[in-house]
Amino acid sequence: MNAGLEDVVAASTVLSDVDGKNGRLIIRGSSLDDLVANARYENVLALLFAGFFPQTPSLPAALGAARAEIFDHLITVDPAVLTLPPVDAMRALIARLDDGDDLSAALRLVAAPAVFIPALLRLKAGKSAIAPKRASSHAADTLRMMTGDIPSPEQTAALDRYLVTVADHGLNASTFAARVVASTRAGMTSSVLAALSALKGPLHGGAPGPVLDMLDAAATPDNAPNWIAAELARGERLMGFGHRVYRVRDPRADALKSAVRLLAGAGAIDPARLALAEAVERTALDQLKAKKPDRPLDTNVEFYTALLLEALGFPRQAFTGVFAMGRVGGWIAHAREQAETGRLIRPRSLYIGPQPQAAA
Ligand code: ACO
Repeated sequence: MNAGLEDVVAASTVLSDVDGKNGRLIIRGSSLDDLVANARYENVLALLFAGFFPQTPSLPAALGAARAEIFDHLITVDPAVLTLPPVDAMRALIARLDDGDDLSAALRLVAAPAVFIPALLRLKAGKSAIAPKRASSHAADTLRMMTGDIPSPEQTAALDRYLVTVADHGLNASTFAARVVASTRAGMTSSVLAALSALKGPLHGGAPGPVLDMLDAAATPDNAPNWIAAELARGERLMGFGHRVYRVRDPRADALKSAVRLLAGAGAIDPARLALAEAVERTALDQLKAKKPDRPLDTNVEFYTALLLEALGFPRQAFTGVFAMGRVGGWIAHAREQAETGRLIRPRSLYIGPQPQAAA
């Protein structure tokens, strides 16, 4: 019995390969580094969707139209939804979308987090939601819908790099959840809702908010060693470190560090915050190595995600929703790939409960 399904291969995929030994990520034949340097999120989406949907002549234009369509759903938002944390409010809004399986349903699901997260943040703050612009890039439009200002090229590039970095990542917990639901032949909205629910836990996509809590608690580079030692002595996990598959540094951490540096070069990140993060990372790596010499624990994607999304102005409660904005492309492609196998995912359990008593 293998409770965490470690090393169990449960699907064949053409979508991505996570090479945990060498710290490499391949997405449909391209290395993550190459995609981060050269592709926008829309390009990666086209790569993930290729062969799973009839391709439209212009995916950016179709996605822009989907954002406009999704914005109309905000007219009927139940005020009770606004009292929920952003990721839960977004899940409630996505649950109202049709459970179709064609390209337009897929693009509405991709558009949903990009439109709903900025709108929910504004509505919760008593402001009105800002309508999307079809001709903008997905990243630039999201930032403008949140603040009302045109983002700088560096801010747009940083969010684009983030979305590309998290677009797909093998059979992680949320993607597996999407595939299980797709295997029952439920629609794509059902798959995305299952995946989003799996994503929000702190051991998966819920970690970057707590990374910032950790930076706040460590407070200064000088204080970081004592604070981290106390956390580890209490048996706490350091958020943003460790991974089920990577035994070396998560390649996504470096992709995002480069995006953070891009923002730093444009003066769009507080240098003291960056210095604190670098000190916490260094200290955490040293102390984790000393505490667990046999289990390599390195920086994962969530550590620099936290700094990046904070610098772009997203509040920490919205980080999981922004993660979903990128990963939704992978969830949908995996759901389609699973559905094409026609095979229901149905493992077995080992019964360890009592047996019925024999009649006296
Ligand atoms: N801090 C301190 N100790 C850790 C950490 C950490 N971040 N991660 C693992 N360990 C320790 C565990 O306590 C365990 O010790 P033990 O053997 O004494 O009990 C040992 O390392 C092995 O840990 P496992 O739980 O077996 O490792 P698993 O493969 O399940 O963990 C996980 C992967 C869940 C990501 C883990 O490293 C963790 O909890 N990290 C912190 C949360 C986090 O950053 N999550 C985001 C992951 S990236 C993503 O999902 C997008």
